[in-house]
Amino acid sequence: MDGSARIERALNRAIELGEGPGAPPRLAAAMRHAVFPRGARVRPRLCLAVAAACGDDEPELTDAAAASIELLHCASLVHDDLPCFDDAATRRGKPSVHRAFGERLAVLAGDALIVMAFEAIAHAKCSPERLPRVILTVAGSVGMPLGIAAGQAWECEPEVDLAHYHQSKTGALFAAATMLGAAAAGRDPQPWRALGERIGEAYQVADDIRDAAADEDEMGKPAGQDAALGRPSAVSELGLSGALARLDQLLKEAIAAIPACPGEGDLKSLILAEAKRLVPKHLAAPQAA
Ligand code: IPE
Ligand code: IPE
Ligand code: MG
Ligand code: MG
Repeated sequence: MDGSARIERALNRAIELGEGPGAPPRLAAAMRHAVFPRGARVRPRLCLAVAAACGDDEPELTDAAAASIELLHCASLVHDDLPCFDDAATRRGKPSVHRAFGERLAVLAGDALIVMAFEAIAHAKCSPERLPRVILTVAGSVGMPLGIAAGQAWECEPEVDLAHYHQSKTGALFAAATMLGAAAAGRDPQPWRALGERIGEAYQVADDIRDAAADEDEMGKPAGQDAALGRPSAVSELGLSGALARLDQLLKEAIAAIPACPGEGDLKSLILAEAKRLVPKHLAAPQAA
């Protein structure tokens, strides 16, 4: 089974658990709307790629870890789109969850998806000694002091360091994706942290560039949000060409951070393919190789 099929199957299993008897139908529908149809699924694909490079000897745990990362990502998008955050009407080319189901169900859908991410891991058949490390890695990527919640909270502070803000709101989940790939395969996750952090920061810089330079049709979500809302962004701090240069530098750092392993070449190809996809078509693609 290819990686994409593994990810969709694991996500379906998790979502179906929440659709069991007694579930309030509209909340169940809002959660499904947040997860399907797919976005790029880049974080779970990265998790699977690292697991493959580490032997992937317990694929059920790998799949659950990958699904948990994507569920947390989807939850973060639901909350990020709410009127009290970015007030976005569209996501993945369709109405955002609060536009389709209302604000109350969007708050609850995000909350329930976060809990579901941990349930997905708890249901996986695996060596029990691997679980604490997996759960701590997942929790660190969403909570305080350095996870998504912390990252989004920097928008409420008077002074923000852009790299730290990007690292927390986006880099932490990418770091969890690479580290979980290793941890699910019974390996030490630490050597994989820097790779995820660099890809994650690059990904947010690229997202800031697209926000400034692409349009809603290309992205499936509103453009120009960062400037309109006064968000700290790579483009507002560095200008468009400075942001493109920063992206190129981060991608080079990401490739240099791949630990020596049998899957090194595949990981490099994955990063370079993503890099091409990330920059709006009318801007020159960065050359990270
Ligand atoms: C969007 O993430 C939010 C950011 C952190 C930039 P993605 O660009 O991965 O969104 P989907 O999952 O493909 O919709
Ligand atoms: C949000 O960053 C990152 C999250 C933690 C959800 P953005 O606000 O730039 O993401 P988009 O542009 O709405 O996808
Ligand atoms: Mg947003
Ligand atoms: Mg954005």
